Amino acid sequence: MTDDVLLHAHELSLEYLDGSRRVRAVDEVSLTIRRGEFVGLVGPSGSGKSSLLFLLAGLRAPTSGHVELLGTVLPQKADLSAALRRRHIGFLFQEPFLVPYLDVRENALSHALDAEAEARLLTLAEAIGMGTMLSERPHRLSGGERQRASLLRALANAPELVLADEPTANLDHITGRSVMALLREQTRDAALLVVTHDPDMLDGADRILFLRDGKLQKA
Ligand SMILES: Nc1ncnc2c1ncn2[C@@H]1O[C@H](COP(=O)(O)OP(=O)(O)OP(=O)(O)O)[C@@H](O)[C@H]1O
Ligand SMILES: [Mg+2]
Repeated sequence: MTDDVLLHAHELSLEYLDGSRRVRAVDEVSLTIRRGEFVGLVGPSGSGKSSLLFLLAGLRAPTSGHVELLGTVLPQKADLSAALRRRHIGFLFQEPFLVPYLDVRENALSHALDAEAEARLLTLAEAIGMGTMLSERPHRLSGGERQRASLLRALANAPELVLADEPTANLDHITGRSVMALLREQTRDAALLVVTHDPDMLDGADRILFLRDGKLQKA
C-alpha cells in the first residue's frame, strides 16, 4: 500500500437482522480512498450508502471484511475505534443530530482535540453563514442551519478523511454549493467522500461510485 492511501475497504459486507429477515445492506464492497481525492457515492434510496459510510467510519462492525484506516485495521467494536475515528475522520450523518442542551459552538467543539479547534471553528462558521448563530441552541435553528452546525463539528479537528451523508439535503442550491465548496477547501490535503442525490454537488469529483443493492457497480 502506498503512503497516500487513507482508507482501504476490503470485501465489506453488512447484514441487518430485521426480525427473522436478513437484509444484506452492503455486499462485498472493496474500495480505496487516497489523500486529496474527492469521491462521490450515489445510488437509489435503500441501496446501502449510509450503511457503507457507517462501516467505513467503524461505526458499525462489518458482517465480513475489514477497513484499514491509515494502515490500522479498525477494531470490530465501534467503541474501540472511537479514538481513531475522532482523530482522523469527520463524519456527517444524514440526519443532523446535535446535543439539545449545547449551543452551536459547544456542539461543534464537543469532540475537539486541540486548542486550535476553536479558531478553526470561527473561520468555518463565517464561511458558511453560521458566524452569528454560534450561541444558539439547536431548537432555534432551521433544518439547514442544523446541518451546517453538524458540519462545523465534523470539521473541528481538521480530519484527514471526511465522510458526509447528504450534507446538502436540507439546503437551498446556493447554500448547498457553499457547503460543498467549504468541504472541498477543507479537505484539499485530506479526502472527501460525499453521498448525495444531487449530481450538481459532485462537480469536480475525481470519481463517482455507484451503489445498487449493496454492490458497487463497475464504472
Ligand atoms: N437498522 C437497520 N435494520 C434493518 N435494516 C436496515 C437498517 N438500516 C438500514 N436497513 C436496510 O438496509 C438497506 C440499506 O439502507 P441504507 O440506509 O444504507 O440505504 P441508503 O442508500 O442510505 O438510502 P437513502 O438514500 O434512503 O438514505 C435498506 O434496505 C434498509 O431498509
Ligand atoms: Mg442514507
